Amino acid sequence: MPENVRSPLKPLSEALLFASNFLRHPNMLGSIIPSSRFLVKQVLEPIDWERARVIVEYGPGVGTFTAEILRRMRPDAHLVAIETNRDFVRFLRRTWPDPRLHVVHDSEAQVRTILGQLGLPAPRYIISGIPLGSMPDPVRADIALQSRAALEPGGAFLVYQFTARALPVLQRTFGDVRRSFERRNLPPAQLFVCAMPGS
Ligand SMILES: C[S@@+](CC[C@H](N)C(=O)[O-])C[C@H]1O[C@@H](n2cnc3c(N)ncnc32)[C@H](O)[C@@H]1O
Repeated sequence: MPENVRSPLKPLSEALLFASNFLRHPNMLGSIIPSSRFLVKQVLEPIDWERARVIVEYGPGVGTFTAEILRRMRPDAHLVAIETNRDFVRFLRRTWPDPRLHVVHDSEAQVRTILGQLGLPAPRYIISGIPLGSMPDPVRADIALQSRAALEPGGAFLVYQFTARALPVLQRTFGDVRRSFERRNLPPAQLFVCAMPGS
């Protein structure tokens, strides 16, 4: 089969890889299946693709968002996908050999170091699906602060979660947070758009 033709078995293998990792690391994944296309569409909706030269994704999993971001982003843009799970890192590197994609096996806590090592400027957007709700409050606070410090002025931290537990920390860090909801996801998801001041 040519490389650019998606095998009909691919969604099944992605789902199995995701589910088997959920059974081993339920708190790190937060859901047994990858995000739905409805959630992907809604989370990416605020992105100004023309201005997005660098995008960071925390916790890409099997690449449900990654694939759509690569499809929409500029040919000269960079996507830095930071993932702690080794199986997902291997899978992503094998599945999307796109020169614009940098799959990094590390924690989002290292975001600024990683961008420095790649020689990339501050990202316009950080997209995060890591389960902030199951983390202790100081860890959540640190993730929000690190993300704010990494973003360029006028950028945004786009967060999707299965609970609203992270909302207070996001509001404390970013001020105004725009909220919405996607019920056509399993489980239904909350979305938080945390905008940075500036243009
Ligand atoms: C809810 S899953 C989302 C997966 C995928 N983005 C999706 O929407 O289907 C959360 C992902 O975050 C990863 N993760 C959890 N903690 C992380 C951390 N501190 N840094 C980077 N990735 C992390 C998990 O391994 C998992 O792949």
